Amino acid sequence: MTDPVFDMADLFGEDYLYFYADRTGDERSDADTELIWRLLELEPGMEVLDLACGHGRIANRLAARGCHVTGLDATPLFLQRARGDAEAWGVSVDYHHGDVRDLPWASRFDRVVNWFTSFGYFDDSGNRKVISEVARVLRPGGEFILELNNLPWLLRNLQSSVVMEREGNLLVDRNEFDPLTSRVLSRRAVIRDGRHRDLRFFTRTFGFPELRQWLHEAGFSTVAAYGDGGDSLTVHSRRLITVSTH
Ligand SMILES: C[S@@+](CC[C@H](N)C(=O)[O-])C[C@H]1O[C@@H](n2cnc3c(N)ncnc32)[C@H](O)[C@@H]1O
Repeated sequence: MTDPVFDMADLFGEDYLYFYADRTGDERSDADTELIWRLLELEPGMEVLDLACGHGRIANRLAARGCHVTGLDATPLFLQRARGDAEAWGVSVDYHHGDVRDLPWASRFDRVVNWFTSFGYFDDSGNRKVISEVARVLRPGGEFILELNNLPWLLRNLQSSVVMEREGNLLVDRNEFDPLTSRVLSRRAVIRDGRHRDLRFFTRTFGFPELRQWLHEAGFSTVAAYGDGGDSLTVHSRRLITVSTH
């Protein structure tokens, strides 16, 4: 079976920043950072990797709280924005352009963060490679937090069409679930300033037991599950958060 198309460069570009900057604005980013801080029991001075850090909204906040933060992402535009914000805030983050499947470190970090459905963009061997790379760059006893959609919630609530609007500009996602691969397959149309652009992407989705098994198979000894806001995971949790110890 051939893999569906993933238009990575078009998905993570200027339109993403334009439409998602509102949704992941200050309030949301502050709350995400606070939750990560609590669940990972972070302390100033810890070495933290924000994997697929995007435009640095979490990396910069963790640095402001005193962690030694490294951010890695594949999108130069997002890294440019992240570096600019870090400079404006007077915080220091080591930003790297790179691929989550091939990390340039070994046994280096106390904690690794992967947040806001930044996992599941590849075939399953690629997705597993990301987890094994995380295990490789963590120090013994280090912890990995992963946050993504919760499959039981998604199966009951997936909307075949989602519309976002900003200043009269539209982002329209048409979604379907593929039960053979446990992926949400999405077709996105962006209509902005009179310009129309179509792109396709997919996201692998997990129920907790499958993800826990993958994490154990990659060498993590314990895997804890949480739902929205760090509450207990239920079928009503929109998000699945795992905290795994290496
Ligand atoms: C949904 S965004 C989330 C960004 C960030 N974690 C946040 O919470 O705002 C996913 C990110 O994954 C990055 N990404 C996608 N594929 C990647 C890859 N192969 N290696 C590194 N980063 C990648 C994209 O550039 C994008 O910044």
